[in-house]
Amino acid sequence: MVALGMNSSVAFLSFLYITCVMSASWRPTPAPEPNSLVSSPNPEANSPEPSPATLADSPETQLPPTAEGLFDVTDYGAEPDGETETSSAFLEAWNAACSHNGDSTFYIPEGTFLLGPVSITGPCHNNQPPKIVIKGTLMAPPNLSAFPDTNWIVFQDLHGINISGGNGEVPNIDAQGEVEAWKRNSCSKSEKCNKLITSLRFNNVSLGTISNIAVSNSKGFHVAFLDCDNINVYNVSISSPGDSPNTDGIHVGMSTNINITSSNIGAGDDCISIGPGSRNISVSDVKCGPGHGISIGSLGKYTDEEDVVGINVRNCTITGTQNGVRVKTWPGAPASHASNFMFTDIVMINVSNPIIIDQEYCPSNSCKSTSEPSLVKLSNIHFKNISGTYNTESGVTLICSSGVPCENIHLIDINLNPTEPETPREGRFNVKGVVNGLEILNSSF
Ligand SMILES: *[C@@H]1O[C@H](CO)[C@@H](O)[C@H](O)[C@H]1NC(C)=O
Ligand SMILES: *[C@@H]1O[C@H](CO)[C@@H](O)[C@H](O)[C@H]1NC(C)=O
Ligand SMILES: *[C@@H]1O[C@H](CO)[C@@H](O)[C@H](O)[C@H]1NC(C)=O
Ligand SMILES: *[C@@H]1O[C@H](CO)[C@@H](O)[C@H](O)[C@H]1NC(C)=O
Ligand SMILES: *[C@@H]1O[C@H](CO)[C@@H](O)[C@H](O)[C@H]1NC(C)=O
Ligand SMILES: *[C@@H]1O[C@H](CO)[C@@H](O)[C@H](O)[C@H]1NC(C)=O
Ligand SMILES: *[C@@H]1O[C@H](CO)[C@@H](O)[C@H](O)[C@H]1NC(C)=O
Ligand SMILES: *[C@@H]1O[C@H](CO)[C@@H](O)[C@H](O)[C@H]1NC(C)=O
Ligand SMILES: *[C@@H]1O[C@H](CO)[C@@H](O)[C@H](O)[C@H]1NC(C)=O
Repeated sequence: MVALGMNSSVAFLSFLYITCVMSASWRPTPAPEPNSLVSSPNPEANSPEPSPATLADSPETQLPPTAEGLFDVTDYGAEPDGETETSSAFLEAWNAACSHNGDSTFYIPEGTFLLGPVSITGPCHNNQPPKIVIKGTLMAPPNLSAFPDTNWIVFQDLHGINISGGNGEVPNIDAQGEVEAWKRNSCSKSEKCNKLITSLRFNNVSLGTISNIAVSNSKGFHVAFLDCDNINVYNVSISSPGDSPNTDGIHVGMSTNINITSSNIGAGDDCISIGPGSRNISVSDVKCGPGHGISIGSLGKYTDEEDVVGINVRNCTITGTQNGVRVKTWPGAPASHASNFMFTDIVMINVSNPIIIDQEYCPSNSCKSTSEPSLVKLSNIHFKNISGTYNTESGVTLICSSGVPCENIHLIDINLNPTEPETPREGRFNVKGVVNGLEILNSSF
C-alpha cells in the first residue's frame, strides 16, 4: 500500500511501479457511453449530409427582407405554430441571407418552429456568413424515422460565425428526445444501437462565437464540433435529464482553439467530452451536473486517431455526477499520445469519481480486447486545487496502461472528503497499471 490520506505531507514518488489494484473493493463501473458518432473516423457515421431539404427543392421566389439585411424565416413562409414543418422556408431564408451583398442576419423570431434535419451551409457571399439569431424555439420531429442521417441541424463550411439565442427563458433548440429516442436507445445492450442524432453539429466552422443559447432534450449529443477552429462558446445552457442515454453536452473532436466558458450543462452523459485530434481546448467557469463529468476521451477506439494536446479545465463546479474530471482510453487501443492537461480550481459536490484516469474504459463490454493494454500514452497531467465531496470508496482513481505507463501525473492541493462523514477507512486511492513520475503534494482524499 502506498501512503493513503497524505495529509499536507509532500510525497514525490518517482517511477512508482504499481501492478495491483490498491482498492480491491472498488472498481469504476463506467456506464455505456459509446461516443462513436462524432469523433469516429467511421465513414458511415461521418458521411456527408444527404441534405434532406436543399435550396434546389425550394421555389425561386425572392421575398424582400423586412429590413435591409434582415432575413426573417417567417417572411419565407415558416409558421411559428410548432406543427408545420419549416425546413424549406429556413433554407430559403438562409440562402437569401448567405448570398446577400452586405451585412445580414438570419433571424428566427419568437414562436415554436417544427424543423426537420437541415444543413446550414457556406461559404457565403464574400466569405462572410450572416449573423444567426434564434429568439424562438426550434423543435425537432420526435420520430427517429424523420432523420436519414445522424444530425439534426448542421452548420457546415462557415468562416466567421456568430450564433446567439434568446434571454435564456425559452429553450432554443429542443430535440424532444424524451418522446422516442431515449426509449429506443439500446446502446447499453449492444454496440450496434439505433443511430444517435446530434442536435447542433458544426463541421469545418471557424472563427466564431456561440452564445446565450439554450439546448435541451437532445436525441444524442447536444452540440458537437468536428474540424473546427477558433470558436468561443459562452453563456450556453444545456439540459437533459441525468438518465437520458448518450446525451453528451458538448463534444469536441479534431478541432483546435475552442473555448467553452460561463455555461451550465446538465446531461445524461459527459457534460463535455473531448475526443481525438483536439488541441488547445479551454473549458472554464462551467457548471456541470447531472451527467458523467468533464472527460477527455474516449480515446483509442479507432486506429489512426490523432493526438490530443493542451486541454485546460479551470474554475468549474461539478455536482452529483458519475465522474468529475476524467481521462478515458479503451483497452487494446492503438498507439497515440494525449498530453498536457490541466485541471485546476475545481469544486466537486457529491461526485462518484472526482478524479479518474481510466485506461480500461469499456462500456457495456463492447471492447475488442480487454486483456491488451491501451497504447494511448498519457503524459503531463496536472490536477490542482480540486476540492469537495464524493460518494464512493475512491477519491482518486488512476488506472493506467501496463503497456505504455502514465508519465508525470501531478496531484497538487487536492482536498476531497466523503459526502457522508464516516469512520476513517482505507482505499481512497485506487491505482492500477504503471505510473512513471507521480507527484502528490499537499493533498488529502
Ligand atoms: C412516430 O412514432 C409514433 C410512435 O413510435 C408513430 O405512432 C407515428 O406514426 C410516427 N410518426 C411518423 C410521422 O412516422
Ligand atoms: C455576436 O452577437 C452578439 C449578440 O448580438 C454580440 O453581443 C456579440 O458582440 C457578437 N460577437 C461577435 C464576435 O461579433
Ligand atoms: C447570459 O445569459 C443570461 C440569461 O440566460 C443573461 O441574462 C445574461 O445577460 C447573459 N450574459 C451575457 C454575457 O451575455
Ligand atoms: C472539412 O473540410 C475538409 C476539406 O474540405 C474535408 O476533407 C473534411 O471532410 C471536412 N470535414 C467535415 C467534418 O465536414
Ligand atoms: C480562448 O481563451 C484564451 C485564454 O483565455 C484566449 O487567449 C483565446 O483567444 C480564446 N480563444 C478564442 C477562440 O476566443
Ligand atoms: C495553441 O495556443 C498557443 C497559444 O495560444 C498557440 O501558440 C498555438 O499555436 C496553438 N496551437 C494550435 C494547434 O493552434
Ligand atoms: C468562476 O466561475 C464562476 C461561474 O461558475 C464565475 O462566477 C466566477 O467569476 C469564476 N471565477 C473566476 C476566478 O474566474
Ligand atoms: C481554488 O479553487 C477554488 C474554486 O474554483 C477557488 O475559489 C480558489 O480561489 C482556488 N484557490 C487558489 C489558491 O487558487
Ligand atoms: C449523493 O449522491 C448519491 C448517489 O448519487 C445520492 O444517493 C445521495 O443522496 C447524494 N447525497 C447528497 C447529500 O446529495
